[in-house]
Amino acid sequence: MLSKYDNEMRLEFLSKSANEAFARITVAAFASQLDPTIDEIADIKTAVSEAVTNCIIHAYEDTQGIIKLHCIIQDNSIIIEISDNGKGIEDVNIAKEPLYTSKPNLERSGMGFTIMESFMDKLSVESVLNLGTKVTMEKTIKKAKNILEEQENKCTTA
Ligand SMILES: Nc1ncnc2c1ncn2[C@@H]1O[C@H](COP(=O)(O)OP(=O)(O)OP(=O)(O)O)[C@@H](O)[C@H]1O
Ligand SMILES: [Mg+2]
Repeated sequence: MLSKYDNEMRLEFLSKSANEAFARITVAAFASQLDPTIDEIADIKTAVSEAVTNCIIHAYEDTQGIIKLHCIIQDNSIIIEISDNGKGIEDVNIAKEPLYTSKPNLERSGMGFTIMESFMDKLSVESVLNLGTKVTMEKTIKKAKNILEEQENKCTTA
């Protein structure tokens, strides 16, 4: 596969709850080449977990479908696309509001999109009713090692 990016990967898996952990661990492993901090990896894992859980619980509900994962690494950022061919979202702006949930009786708190938004640098949600939903998230990894090396260099040259 030729890629215009520094690195890229694609994965397709069934909307089974066992695959939520699989997806979050896989993305964390792919992101590790950017040398993230433990906190940055934890943020990415949580955001992926929320997006994949939404596909399993909302998009496909009692049925089973395919969840697609597409990750891109460019410079020191990771872009993560998670998409489904499920039921879609009628109004994305309402769905993104904190505490909004269409399933209050399933003990959902309606905080998934809010968590994705706060743990990642960018979030976009595209959805078409009865066709599916695509969530795109981006996070820039602040090269901790480089910052440390720069500081060390400054110390030795001062
Ligand atoms: N992939 C999806 N397909 C269809 N509907 C979705 C999808 N993702 C989210 N939604 C809709 O957007 C709403 C808000 O999602 P959000 O993740 O913020 O909250 P939640 O899943 O209801 O609760 P929580 O994530 O806190 O358990 C959902 O209740 C659902 O109606
Ligand atoms: Mg959710």
